[in-house]
Amino acid sequence: MKTKMMLALSTLLMAGMVSGPALADGDGAEVFKKRCKVCHSIEAGKHKMGPSLAGIMGRKAGTTDFAKYIGIKDFGIVWDAENMDKFLADPKKFVGAKTMAYKLKKEEDRAAVIAYLQTLK
Ligand code: HEC
Repeated sequence: MKTKMMLALSTLLMAGMVSGPALADGDGAEVFKKRCKVCHSIEAGKHKMGPSLAGIMGRKAGTTDFAKYIGIKDFGIVWDAENMDKFLADPKKFVGAKTMAYKLKKEEDRAAVIAYLQTLK
């Protein structure tokens, strides 16, 4: 009985250690904290140097009530993982005008932060 419980417990612990999604979310939150948070809040309606990113995925680009959009205002796309990846890799190339002065160069950082953005309501 005791052995069985120990086994079950260690299986649970191991599952916790290798569980992918939890780890990926954590990474994305970490990337966001280091690279995006200075300019973006994740609270709806709360803007900093850039617009709030609450509920950003699946929303039309440049449509919050942020007053200081530069190039992305009513840009005519809906944010999905693919165009978000292109935007973050090189905003100026993607928007074709003056826009967010920031590039997230590492592909794995972009994937992690996009997974995180998808969790924001
Ligand atoms: C130096 C400040 C700054 C940093 C750092 C920054 N951004 Fe931005 N971001 C902006 C500004 C300013 C805009 C508005 C751009 C425009 O209007 O063209 C913007 C726009 C955006 C938009 C479009 C929002 C919308 O309403 O459509 C997204 C998405 C975005 N940023 C994501 C990110 C992510 C993710 C990071 C971190 C990897 C990041 N930004 C880092 C300043 C920043």
